[in-house]
Amino acid sequence: MDEDLKVKESTIGINLMLKEVIEGLSKSRKELPCKYFYDERGSQLFDEICSLDEYYVTRTELDIMRTYIDEMSEVMGRQLMLVEYGSGSSEKIKIILDHVDGISTYVPIDISCQHLAKSATQIAAKYKKLEVIPVCADYNKPFSIPEPKNEILHKIVYFPGSTIGNFHPVEARKFLSRIKDVAGPKGGLLIGVDLKKDTTILNSAYNDSQGVTAAFNLNQLKRFNRELGSNFDLANFKHKAFYNDKEGRVEMHIISQAPQEVRLNGTTISFNKDESIWTESSYKYSLAEFEAIAKDAGFSVKQVWTDKNNLFSVQYLNVENY
Ligand SMILES: C[S@@+](CC[C@H](N)C(=O)[O-])C[C@H]1O[C@@H](n2cnc3c(N)ncnc32)[C@H](O)[C@@H]1O
Repeated sequence: MDEDLKVKESTIGINLMLKEVIEGLSKSRKELPCKYFYDERGSQLFDEICSLDEYYVTRTELDIMRTYIDEMSEVMGRQLMLVEYGSGSSEKIKIILDHVDGISTYVPIDISCQHLAKSATQIAAKYKKLEVIPVCADYNKPFSIPEPKNEILHKIVYFPGSTIGNFHPVEARKFLSRIKDVAGPKGGLLIGVDLKKDTTILNSAYNDSQGVTAAFNLNQLKRFNRELGSNFDLANFKHKAFYNDKEGRVEMHIISQAPQEVRLNGTTISFNKDESIWTESSYKYSLAEFEAIAKDAGFSVKQVWTDKNNLFSVQYLNVENY
């Protein structure tokens, strides 16, 4: 079998992980950055989540993409570089690559390096004329977009999966503003944004009956034991997720089942019974709420596509103020 494509790697160090994990667990309200879900096992578990009946997000976004891909193609134009943030298994991009002519270069960016290398290699094997340059980076830290060999007229950033929902709204605005700088003056952003909906749908999407989301949430403790030498006893922690109506977000937590202490590189972290570690937020937006954030970040909303039940939206934004 051919080797995986070489991944251009920026710094994702163990020291930084250790520092951020200790900082997060030392807060009065314990929390962890959601990027640490995604070691190789975490990425596989996320893929399993995407195929669950309860997880409407992926299925609905894929349906919207397939239904409206011709309209999306029209607004995207030609001779373009497509930069995908949090590309994961690079599944959704295939719909674009199959239908949109004139994509010269594809730059998938993800923090899960091995998973990224595999997905990028599959894309390069399937789309032989496409220039594929995978970048393993934390997109919250400075990183550079590689220079394409192919000539391009403009850049479009693709950010699917409603990963933007993982940012608190103020941070989402700042993040979109940085994406605007990457896309440049004639650029655009094709983004998947999850919408506000019935609480029962949300609560069951993040508490699936097979326990895959629970395994995904707890997997990071296993990762810390392996990579940071901590001693989390997984039997003493439980997954919890619920929709916080006031804040408009699904919250994921890990709940300590007993008073306990965990050792982490010379630091002792104490937990009370029922104390939580806040591991992820997933904000749900109305179209108007998201438009306001996009506008503040310097984008204008050109087109919005939704499913018939208004569960999810895919939106094309133009760079407005550069
Ligand atoms: C919610 S998943 C979405 C995956 C895929 N785009 C989709 O739509 O199904 C988030 C993806 O972003 C990646 N990711 C999370 N935090 C990241 C970070 N700080 N920098 C780069 N990639 C990140 C994860 O590894 C994962 O592939």
